[in-house]
Amino acid sequence: MPEHTLILEASQILTCPGGSAPRRGKAMSDVGLLEDGAVAIRNGKVEAVGSQEGLRDRFPEAERIDLGGHVLTPGLVDSHTHAVFGRYRLDEYELRSAGVPYMEIARRGGGINASVRDLREHSESELVELGHARLRRMLEHGTTTAEVKSGYGLNPEDELKMLRVIQELAKEEWIDLVPTFLGAHAFPPEYRERREEYVDLVVREMIPAVAESGLAVFCDVFMEPGVYTPEQTRRVLEAAVQHGLVPRLHADEFESSGGAELAAEFEAASADHLGAISEAGIAALASSGTVATLLPGTLLFLGKTYYPPARRLIDAGAAVALATDFNPGSSPTVNLQVVMSLACSQLGMSPAEAFVAATANGAAGLRLADGRGTLEPGAPADVAAFDVPDYRLVPYLYGSNHCAAVWKRGVRAH
Ligand code: NIG
Ligand code: FE
Repeated sequence: MPEHTLILEASQILTCPGGSAPRRGKAMSDVGLLEDGAVAIRNGKVEAVGSQEGLRDRFPEAERIDLGGHVLTPGLVDSHTHAVFGRYRLDEYELRSAGVPYMEIARRGGGINASVRDLREHSESELVELGHARLRRMLEHGTTTAEVKSGYGLNPEDELKMLRVIQELAKEEWIDLVPTFLGAHAFPPEYRERREEYVDLVVREMIPAVAESGLAVFCDVFMEPGVYTPEQTRRVLEAAVQHGLVPRLHADEFESSGGAELAAEFEAASADHLGAISEAGIAALASSGTVATLLPGTLLFLGKTYYPPARRLIDAGAAVALATDFNPGSSPTVNLQVVMSLACSQLGMSPAEAFVAATANGAAGLRLADGRGTLEPGAPADVAAFDVPDYRLVPYLYGSNHCAAVWKRGVRAH
């Protein structure tokens, strides 16, 4: 492994400057665009970014890589995924095509609970095997760090099984994984008529066991009318905080129920979805440290005709991130580039804002404090190269994978 490399001949370099803090408002437009630039990498970290001439002179001994006119950016950070699961849900896809809504399928016992029944039947090693292939596809699309949630186990044993699968995958794959406990993703079939008892189980048994295991950083809840109520969500998040897990929240996905406000109140790392966020919710996120994580791929795939108010969020001063929500029910894509396309075409975000949202702000939403999501000196050298001469072509030429190469901590991983 070469310890010192100099990446040259990029048409553009995006450094996404600003350290580990969330970018808000106008700062979201600053991609730190560099033409005729180079990146020096030493021992897995970005050592310097500057003019090609300057860095060639400064580091004559470094191994040189010619990028051939591609765009170089920080590795993408996918801050919301459900990447561990068993089978795809093609039967539901057909039902939805025929007009049955996602939440109606869930009420009939399908949806998340279809994946729960399926996951419980899979062994840990089968799930690891399935996970490998999926994480490699994420990496091939430019993602170098991803959050992964539990939430298809919904009992103490299978939730811990999922978290161990995430840990195992993190050990073996290039991509960095950030684990989230999502025991409050749905109510499992055996608790269908005893919802409060399931919340008791999450609060009294699962959260302490997960915290004790050290297998999760965050705790998430699917707060939505028909799923977790604000009161139930509050109970889960209070227990999470007590046990040292950091809250994040599925909030206001289809109907507004005060999710964004609750996330801000709990100083959650992120409030995610926000398709139906209220004015009060926008104001709450704008004046909080909670990152508004938008998942437009989900709404596209579910056939919805509305999108979260990204423009109003950014203009109000909220920090916006973009993620895939990769899961077998509502968003089976691993491609964060196509999510950026949706952000530009449907959410009114600029290509620059979309890149910041898919890199630095994704990292901020995962509370990563090491400079990931940027190409600033000292940051891990997680770098993606795209086979286009202008970064705006990545969302513009939508639907394809433009990622030509990935370096993870300075090592060529794809
Ligand atoms: O973020 N909204 C809740 N959870 C997931 C869907 C998971 C599933 O349908 O399996 C989401 O869209
Ligand atoms: Fe989700």
